[in-house]
Amino acid sequence: MNVLLVGNGGREHALAWKIKQSTHCSELFVAPGNAGTALVAKNVAIGIDEFEKLGGFCIENKIELVVVGPEVPLVKGIRDYFEQDPNLKNILMVGPGKAGAQLEGSKDFSKQFMIRNQVPTAKAKTFYTGQSAEASAYLATCQPPLVLKADGLAAGKGVIITSDLAEAQATIHEMLEEKKFGDASSKVLVEEFLDGIELSVFVLTDGEDYVILPEAKDYKRIGDGDTGPNTGGMGSVSPVVFATPSFMQKVEERIIKPTIAGLKKENIPFKGFIFIGLMNVKGDPFVIEYNTRMGDPETQSVMARIQSDFLELLIAAAKGNLKGMKIEIDPQVAMTIVMASGGYPDHYEKGKPIQGLKDRHETLVFHAGTKIAGEQIVTDGGRVLGITGRGKTLVEAHTKAYDIVAKISWEGAYYRSDIGQDLQGNPKI
Ligand code: AMP
Ligand code: GLY
Repeated sequence: MNVLLVGNGGREHALAWKIKQSTHCSELFVAPGNAGTALVAKNVAIGIDEFEKLGGFCIENKIELVVVGPEVPLVKGIRDYFEQDPNLKNILMVGPGKAGAQLEGSKDFSKQFMIRNQVPTAKAKTFYTGQSAEASAYLATCQPPLVLKADGLAAGKGVIITSDLAEAQATIHEMLEEKKFGDASSKVLVEEFLDGIELSVFVLTDGEDYVILPEAKDYKRIGDGDTGPNTGGMGSVSPVVFATPSFMQKVEERIIKPTIAGLKKENIPFKGFIFIGLMNVKGDPFVIEYNTRMGDPETQSVMARIQSDFLELLIAAAKGNLKGMKIEIDPQVAMTIVMASGGYPDHYEKGKPIQGLKDRHETLVFHAGTKIAGEQIVTDGGRVLGITGRGKTLVEAHTKAYDIVAKISWEGAYYRSDIGQDLQGNPKI
């Protein structure tokens, strides 16, 4: 079958790498892709939200399955666009429609959905533009740290956590009244702080049945020891030591089953990924957020551990045939180190030639912000590469990944040197 994957990050390189291994895969295209996806698929110069062009490409190239990587096209309604066009509606798609994508696109919607469906989550109160005085008064009654969340998509920047009441009050004013995040902050949630350790859980569902993919831990802050500003994610590890069978059983019973039952009950069809960002609070899981796509850089570590034919699972999810499907998972540890441009997540330069890139057999090199410029591969984004090492232990995976990180360089390259270290001897586990 011919497949089109939409996106251009490290997540998409990892998905393309895995999909291409399937015996069911004929031609694989990535729109727009990066220099890494070009190694395993054909890149197509169409943007992720150019639905008309994507549709035309699918018809011309006899695409039978579209896999949507990032959230933006989902929230903008790529599935709805395909479904309402008679020439596109029979193309299979992994990714929910606009209604389902609201689980990620609106934190207020997802909070209300969790409350309606008894999914454990932090308590929250929503404030609207014009209500910053009420919000300030409410913040003064809350126990710090204070958590503020913009309702809409804010490219990973919409959550502010502070113990300083005056700062929280000023920030909520900027969010609600000065549109700090544009329309995304015309509603803001003030949320209870959950003290625990985070975990990313990934579910592939057809709206009725589901398979649980390997879990992963993401490292969101730019600096070692979880310091500095939030980023898209600076590394990932899978499996995660505290995701024991009994903890995952709680996640399945308390979160996954009621989420899928809730979607059905509310007549929201959902064929795609549900990425549950959760907090393990003293052994009990609470949802921090839903995403309706895979995580980046979690996907790099997750794909590295899936042994099953992943395209077969994607096709089954898109057709509504997941019932009875099983997923085989490699027990090895996978660890991904993100190499970023100096200055990221703030200002950084692009176009730096990358040295030391070669085919690796054991350690995987997934591209994110890269492009081909003449004979060279150059940096083209904040997060540039994800290096994924695999080993029998965390230490072995760590050594394999960092050995390759040390061999790759460009002017200003930056990476965290402590990925996975917190999983050894963490008192919160
Ligand atoms: P989000 O964009 O919802 O993933 O939030 C970004 C980060 O903020 C999360 O990964 C958590 O580290 C943190 N966070 C969000 N909500 C809470 C909460 N209620 N309690 C503690 N930390 C939170
Ligand atoms: N790494 C977190 C995310 O993809 O949202």
